[in-house]
Amino acid sequence: MAFGIYVHWPFCAAKCPYCDFNSHVRTSIDEQGWIEAIERELEWTAQSQGADRPIVETIFFGGGTPSLMTGSSVARVLEKIARFWPMANDVEITLEANPASAEAARFADYRAAGVNRLSLGMQALNDADLKRLGRLHDSREAKAALSLAMRNFARVSLDLIYARPEQDEAAWRSELKEALSFGTDHLSLYQLTIEPGTPFAVLYQNGTLKIPDEDLAAGLYEATQELTEAAGRPAYEISNHATAGSESRHNLLYWRYQDYAGVGPGAHGRLKLGNKRIATSTIRLPERWREAVMKGENSFTDFTPVRDEEAAREHLLMNLRLCEGVDLAAYQARWGKRPSSEKLAPLLEQGLLTRDGDVIRATPQGRLVLNAVIAALLN
Ligand SMILES: C[S@@+](CC[C@H](N)C(=O)[O-])C[C@H]1O[C@@H](n2cnc3c(N)ncnc32)[C@H](O)[C@@H]1O
Ligand code: SF4
Repeated sequence: MAFGIYVHWPFCAAKCPYCDFNSHVRTSIDEQGWIEAIERELEWTAQSQGADRPIVETIFFGGGTPSLMTGSSVARVLEKIARFWPMANDVEITLEANPASAEAARFADYRAAGVNRLSLGMQALNDADLKRLGRLHDSREAKAALSLAMRNFARVSLDLIYARPEQDEAAWRSELKEALSFGTDHLSLYQLTIEPGTPFAVLYQNGTLKIPDEDLAAGLYEATQELTEAAGRPAYEISNHATAGSESRHNLLYWRYQDYAGVGPGAHGRLKLGNKRIATSTIRLPERWREAVMKGENSFTDFTPVRDEEAAREHLLMNLRLCEGVDLAAYQARWGKRPSSEKLAPLLEQGLLTRDGDVIRATPQGRLVLNAVIAALLN
């Protein structure tokens, strides 16, 4: 079973009004102290896995804004991981970066530290929308950061958010064509979600923020599939597009329901300990998390075995996000059951799933209503 490590860096230079990730703005950050806490939690996690530790195939620095870390901090974390776990020769090491110039200046240091894949949060390619999204960079900086990233890393992904306020299909088509013309091997294209508790949610509820309705959003999604496919970077997951072989191996690990450790405040993990699959999550508030780690107290808010029934549901949900779908024979071998033909039939008929022997796949339409599809399959 493949194994990866997610490291969460919880700080950002400013909080974007749409974002509900575990990200925090602080006036000053004692970086060495935070890295020490991450190192300790790595050590604790490795020890919990006993002597026979899995080979690390992927590492992902996510956030927050990991590009606020210095290259030497990233190197320290990577050295620690290599000390505690065996590493695959071709380990994939991704770091999420924001395009502001101060962060872009660190790209060469990240490469020197061992990072071999960069994921750049461009979000939009025009200044008015970047401003509206509360981003600190403008489109010129974003493009400069992207070309610097492409000079430093063989593998670069860019993130865009679409279905933004007042965005019509023509505007998105032209923006996406421009993004595809940059030539990255991977793009993450997310539909804007209004997350409860964010400033965007307040503006949306009081009618100030207008986003594309369901029909327009569906049209934008279809345009996204069409243009990325035509450009040789089709979807391999709901929001992720790549040339063949350039998929994010780390994210594939989540979607193929394999194992990963989550380190840092608010990180989630799924660890195989003995014959149990353990769901882990850590304390979300950075300062509380750090205090617990440094005192040697429990920094986990969850460290519980996942019941087989729940794991089987999660597995299906994750696999069906992927265009490759789920192999029911492998699924049955793992969980001792499979969705019945009676439950599959109506979903196949409605065009939400397709079937090819033992492999079932969600159609693009099915991927849009995946939770309902899973509920129909399992209930
Ligand atoms: C955890 S963020 C971190 C990346 C980095 N801090 C940044 O902002 O560029 C990962 C990605 O999630 C996406 N994202 C965050 N909030 C979103 C929302 N409400 N709707 C859609 N996409 C969102 C953005 O595209 C972002 O690049
Ligand atoms: S979108 Fe990225 S930069 Fe903005 S608050 Fe969220 S994690 Fe931080």
